[in-house]
Amino acid sequence: MVKFEEMQNNDVYKNLLNGKWIESNSNKLIEVKAPHDGSFLGKIQAMTKEEVDEAFSNAKETFKTWKNSNLSERADILHKAAKILEDNAKFIAEILTKEVSKDYKSSYSEVVRTADFIRYTAEEAKRLRGETLYGDAFEGSAKNKMSIVTREPLGVVLSIAPFNYPINLSASKIAPALMAGNVVLFKPPTQGAISALYLIEAFRAAGIPNGVLNTVTGRGSEIGDYLITHKDVDMINFTGSSDVGRHIASIAGMVPMIMELGGKDAAIVLEDADLEDTAKNIVSGAFSYSGQRCTAVKRVLVLESVADRLAQLVSEELKKIKVGMPFDEGVTVTPLIDNKSADFVQGLIDDAIEKGAKLIIGNKREANLVYPTLFDNVTLDMRIAWEEPFGPVLPIIRVKTVEEAIEISNNSEYGLQSAVFTNNIDKAFSVAQSLEVGTVHINNKTQRGPDHFPFLGVKSSGMGTQGIRYSIEAMSRPKAIVVNFNTKF
Ligand code: NAP
Ligand code: G3P
Repeated sequence: MVKFEEMQNNDVYKNLLNGKWIESNSNKLIEVKAPHDGSFLGKIQAMTKEEVDEAFSNAKETFKTWKNSNLSERADILHKAAKILEDNAKFIAEILTKEVSKDYKSSYSEVVRTADFIRYTAEEAKRLRGETLYGDAFEGSAKNKMSIVTREPLGVVLSIAPFNYPINLSASKIAPALMAGNVVLFKPPTQGAISALYLIEAFRAAGIPNGVLNTVTGRGSEIGDYLITHKDVDMINFTGSSDVGRHIASIAGMVPMIMELGGKDAAIVLEDADLEDTAKNIVSGAFSYSGQRCTAVKRVLVLESVADRLAQLVSEELKKIKVGMPFDEGVTVTPLIDNKSADFVQGLIDDAIEKGAKLIIGNKREANLVYPTLFDNVTLDMRIAWEEPFGPVLPIIRVKTVEEAIEISNNSEYGLQSAVFTNNIDKAFSVAQSLEVGTVHINNKTQRGPDHFPFLGVKSSGMGTQGIRYSIEAMSRPKAIVVNFNTKF
């Protein structure tokens, strides 16, 4: 077991700089409290601009050696970090549960899933060495040319993670970036920072060389722009809301970027779907972690002929869901990350009721605990038809034809994922091909996993592609060395 005491002093969590946990000179501390009961969890530091400069310049300097390290050496460190995470899974899952109000079972599985992710990344990177291209493969080109194409790291990758998966979505940036030979400057979400810093300690304890992984804590609204526009940023890997993503893109300049942003994933239900199974998928897809997943099912588009039956089945499934506190056994819906988020969700609910949606279940709230809410007969003038709630509310929109479902789905500003439920494989493919999203799931809920599949959003849902191999490729660039043979002796 790793001893975590160096990371903090009197509940003040430090930042990792050049291999050491350090305290900021800012004297500006941000309190982190548990969203479900307001209990104090610790303080993180708002770092100064000078400290950010130091973290960048240390990373930049370290890049010179890390980029030349052996892949097997990098992979060994990642395997050790994965083991440390796994050995401490219960401890870290408890902190995660408190910090982001995620039910304990999901928190634990996030930690274990992340350890698997890190291991797979270590192995996958070994296979991605580059390729050799031959000149004579191109029409009219020379036989005496050969290009050796290697993959080069980009430099300092600024990684910024959101609150909802502070372990998984941090590691899914850090591990591929490191394996590609980059160094990482990591900014955790403020709510979620403590959990994420434990992940960083796993990398440190695993032997990551000094300066290869540095952290910067502080509020994104205060330090974010300074980080994004810093002269030493070579790449930005960001996950968060579309609004912040757009803002970052507007100020970043010519820096390569990956963005994983918001979504409004549709579950499209055709007449011949297995409705019992579909209802189960919709409920777990929409309400796990209280709907605070980018990949949550966020609207149902159902053919009128089966809409009554589906609405009934979804509502029956929904009644089985347990609402409560994150450590309660078997709980699914827990308090949202903060009151502001609950207010936003309530605003969507109020708007739908005002405009005549049929409330099947829900519209109950205690502080930031919003009970699962299901609406039928949602129409396109309602905010809930288009906006991402990031909370436990689901609209059912009835459609007359499959074409109408596709049109509504594609009219969204988002394009993360969709699901189509049908027993007709031809229709499934046809719908899947028409949808403007990164991924379509046939007969299952929208979801990111498994983590080696390509994961991407189009339109306001993001840019660039993640997924283990894709992330390594996105955080590296090809370099060609052309060998010209002299064929005359
Ligand atoms: P958020 O408010 O956009 O914050 C995300 C991260 O950006 C946090 O670390 C935040 O720091 C930081 N940040 C804020 N302003 C910044 C700025 N000006 N410059 C640089 N960084 C800045 O998002 P969230 O509420 O944490 O997460 C929920 C959103 O993320 C949802 O919209 C969800 O759909 C999306 N998401 C997408 C995916 C995906 O894979 N597509 C996955 C998960 C979540 P602070 O915490 O300090 O404010
Ligand atoms: O929202 C982040 C993403 O990692 C969720 O993963 O597989 O639960 O959809 P998954």
